[in-house]
Amino acid sequence: MAQPNKNEMIEYRAFTLDDVPAGHALSMSVKWRHRVEDWRFAARHGSGFAAVDASGALVGTALAWRFGASAATLGMFIVSPAHQRHGIGRALLDRLMAKLGTRTLLIHASSEGRPLCEERGFAHIGTIHQHQGAAFQPPLVSLPPGERLRPIGTKDTPRLAELASRASGMDRSEMLPQLLDVASGIALDRDGELIGFALFRRFGDGHVIGPVVAPESPDQSRAKALISYWLALNAGMFVRVDTPLRHGLSAWLEGLGLPLVDTIEQMALNGTPPADDTLTQFALTSQALW
Ligand SMILES: CC(C)(COP(=O)(O)OP(=O)(O)OC[C@H]1O[C@@H](n2cnc3c(N)ncnc32)[C@H](O)[C@@H]1OP(=O)(O)O)[C@@H](O)C(=O)NCCC(=O)NCCS
Repeated sequence: MAQPNKNEMIEYRAFTLDDVPAGHALSMSVKWRHRVEDWRFAARHGSGFAAVDASGALVGTALAWRFGASAATLGMFIVSPAHQRHGIGRALLDRLMAKLGTRTLLIHASSEGRPLCEERGFAHIGTIHQHQGAAFQPPLVSLPPGERLRPIGTKDTPRLAELASRASGMDRSEMLPQLLDVASGIALDRDGELIGFALFRRFGDGHVIGPVVAPESPDQSRAKALISYWLALNAGMFVRVDTPLRHGLSAWLEGLGLPLVDTIEQMALNGTPPADDTLTQFALTSQALW
């Protein structure tokens, strides 16, 4: 098949749910492990652009998710390998940025995406360690006195959204209920008050633990107890945890048999979300949704 040339006409239009199967094929072509269902979830709750060639084939995507009026995350930013370095990525990112305006924009940038993000003014704000594996040995982690893990109930949703919003500095009131439709959750309770939680859901080749939200504690015991809960329930299954390097869980995850498989840069434009420093998000929902 002839290689596309740089002057080929590319059309840019809104990404729709009908583009999901082609989007899935695109992400497979760059070796991303999303399932069709992961794409559908991302597309249903976000919006963005599709780049299509003269035959109508999807050759690029860039989506965004708005969190309240002041922040958005960017993701599913892909150009087909045969069309890369033709300026399509830049055109997609520019359209997305124009649509989102002056709000704080966040992206997890790969080594290929980073130069373009820097060119558009995004700055480094952190580092994510992606850990995954199946051969873990979940430890018993003791919690501070008065604290225990308990199942999440439907009445907990507003509190979970509040904690997720405070920990991330972004309005999670719409996203959290949507996540609970596809995830299971465990709550951290202190004397009857819900103070942290961890969700667990299907994603990619296996399952993901995240978001994980809790107050800091000596040796990160709260985050470790929440994560260990899901590992113990799913021994031998393929599990992924994306954790900010600065929260110090990486060596512990390695020790459990969840090796570090990728390091990814967090970048922001127009400031950073005003997170509450009494709460920490120890693991991402996903790289797209933060
Ligand atoms: C990142 C990606 C979307 C860029 O798409 P693209 O259409 O090739 O990008 P463009 O042609 O518009 O390139 C814009 C600039 O980005 C930089 N760039 C693009 N690809 C690059 C690469 N592989 N390595 C280093 N810099 C790169 C260059 O500065 C380039 O400008 P130049 O070609 O004038 O030198 C594409 O490489 C891709 O899909 N990669 C795999 C998935 C991925 O990593 N997504 C990014 C997540 S943030």
